[in-house]
Amino acid sequence: MTQELANACKTLHLAYVMDAYESMPFDNRTDYLLSVLRAELKGRETTRIRRLMRRAKFPQVKTLEDYDFEPVVFPERCSQDMLKNLAFLKRKENVIMLGKVGTGKTHLGTALGAEACRRGHEVRFFRVHELVAILQEKYRFGGLARFRQELQRCELLILDEMGFVPFHQDGAELLFQVVSECYEQRSVIVTSNLEFGQWNTIFGDARLTAALVDRLVHHAHVLAFTGESYRLRHALSGVSSKSSVHREEVIACNPER
Ligand SMILES: Nc1ncnc2c1ncn2[C@@H]1O[C@H](COP(=O)(O)OP(=O)(O)OP(=O)(O)O)[C@@H](O)[C@H]1O
Ligand SMILES: [Mg+2]
Repeated sequence: MTQELANACKTLHLAYVMDAYESMPFDNRTDYLLSVLRAELKGRETTRIRRLMRRAKFPQVKTLEDYDFEPVVFPERCSQDMLKNLAFLKRKENVIMLGKVGTGKTHLGTALGAEACRRGHEVRFFRVHELVAILQEKYRFGGLARFRQELQRCELLILDEMGFVPFHQDGAELLFQVVSECYEQRSVIVTSNLEFGQWNTIFGDARLTAALVDRLVHHAHVLAFTGESYRLRHALSGVSSKSSVHREEVIACNPER
């Protein structure tokens, strides 16, 4: 009997019923069947979110719950709630996060990406220099068209650390194509330490930079991250009770201060 049940679940692709049915309380047939089906639906949902999170390739899991929005300056038409409920994603708008090192850009970008996965959206996370390296490799050795098609399947593309590493002309052009293909099709979150005026230094081509920035900022919310580095604050709070020489050393090592 149990074997037959297992076979029936397998044939019907019910992956979670076998684990759930024995432990479910039985009051009446309708409630029991509903509880078992709910367990199946919940199991599928959890697996789907796990798959989306894995495919997004976040460097770390960060959440909105442990994010302090205090350092974020919102532009008009944008708010904490608008980010948290992913209204920008539904409208295919971009979010550009600009600010000094350690001010929480990657944390917020990752947390929004994870929230999007939780709500069933396809997300891809890349550090910009890593994405450019992949694009260059696929351009040279094949597979570029397929990779770009795969990117087009996502609904949110996160480009972290724009401007940390400058790239060559072919890398800049390949990245431009990716951004261009996202334009009005899907949301992009970009984080950067550089003001738009300095983006020329990453791309080395004023015309290309202008075209890229133009596509990104049309339908975008530009957030400014203020204050001093969270990492540094954390380090200083840890050393404040120790020698002041150590504290001065930590401050001296941080170029942003
Ligand atoms: N507002 C915040 N609320 C909670 N944690 C924060 C906040 N800002 C930063 N952090 C924490 O501080 C650390 C550094 O933040 P994060 O990596 O997001 O900074 P960043 O702005 O991306 O820096 P960088 O420009 O160097 O990439 C992380 O561990 C992050 O979780
Ligand atoms: Mg970062």
